Amino acid sequence: MIELLSQRPNAMKWQKYSADILPLWVADMDFAPAQVIQQAIAEASQDLGYQLPPEWADEQVVRWLASEHNCHIEPSWVVWQGGVISGFNTALASVCQSGDEVVVPTPTYPPMRQAPVNHGARCVEMPLEYIDGIWQLNLDKLANQLARPQCKAMLISNPMNPTGCVYQQIGEISKLCHQHNVLLVSDEIHADLVLAGKAHDSALHYNTDHLVVLMAASKTFNIAGLATSYMICPNAKLRKRVQKAGAGIAGHANVLGVMATATAYQAAKPWLNEVKTLLTNNLSVLNRWQETQDSLISYPVNATYLAWMDWRQLTDTPYPHLLSYGIALSDGAPFGAPGWARLNFACSSDTLSQALQRMQQAIEAL
Ligand SMILES: Cc1ncc(COP(=O)(O)O)c(C=O)c1O
Repeated sequence: MIELLSQRPNAMKWQKYSADILPLWVADMDFAPAQVIQQAIAEASQDLGYQLPPEWADEQVVRWLASEHNCHIEPSWVVWQGGVISGFNTALASVCQSGDEVVVPTPTYPPMRQAPVNHGARCVEMPLEYIDGIWQLNLDKLANQLARPQCKAMLISNPMNPTGCVYQQIGEISKLCHQHNVLLVSDEIHADLVLAGKAHDSALHYNTDHLVVLMAASKTFNIAGLATSYMICPNAKLRKRVQKAGAGIAGHANVLGVMATATAYQAAKPWLNEVKTLLTNNLSVLNRWQETQDSLISYPVNATYLAWMDWRQLTDTPYPHLLSYGIALSDGAPFGAPGWARLNFACSSDTLSQALQRMQQAIEAL
């Protein structure tokens, strides 16, 4: 049984705005983590000194990837890290110098647009287009960009944040990166949250030489505050290079986070199944409401708990307008899409229906 967090006194999501605003923005869920995870953390907290991630934890990652994603990896490819943002920044730091270029499909999670710049590189945004029911990249344009000598990496989020869909071009993207000797950095933090339709297609299924994949149990099991993730890098030389780039900066893995992740993979699948049912129900409610809207353009979501909406026929600035009606979505502008907004539907059905009522009022007032 999923327990709703009705009080979230320290949650960024609930504390950023005043109490009269419904927060459907930052990507965490209003659900308590699985009991087994809470117990594992309590037990692990008896020794909080420096520790090595136990082999058992690597084994759980290997087993989870095989059973959930049909990815067959070696335990030695797994490197525990302190969060996915830190993971993709370290990966870029290992290949980028000042003046280099990094391809980033947009719209995307704002720290991905920032990451190349952090390392002196230029973020080359490549728009995702919605064609034939699929968010996709123009592969000819991508090939031309990857062929540029200064292009060193491509950074993607798969499933996509904010469009809430899995990539269906990973084979082609991975082949092009390989051909042009460009590092593919694939953030797959939402991989376990496919709700319908196409399965997640990990970049690990394709060429594995020029590849860093970043994963975590953080979104899947709502434990993002533990700041724990892992990199999977099959190429030993590249793996060392990335680790070296993070030396002295990236820090070591959080002992509670490693235990929580391994325990989640070993024993919290029933919790995840229940959460997915809840998210699927919320998504149906949201879809039904969206179908009644003529001027708000919405797109089908098949993964994550994020819905991406085009408000431009109604207003160029949906975020402040919605805020004035008591609802906080994520503003599309930092994702590279002004006039759009992202809605997090990992909340109680009550919160969602109140939010939809307020959005309706906000639309009627335009
Ligand atoms: C695509 C994506 N990557 C990374 C993160 C953040 O990961 P972490 O908290 O592990 O740094 C998020 C959080 O919303 C995300 O959506």
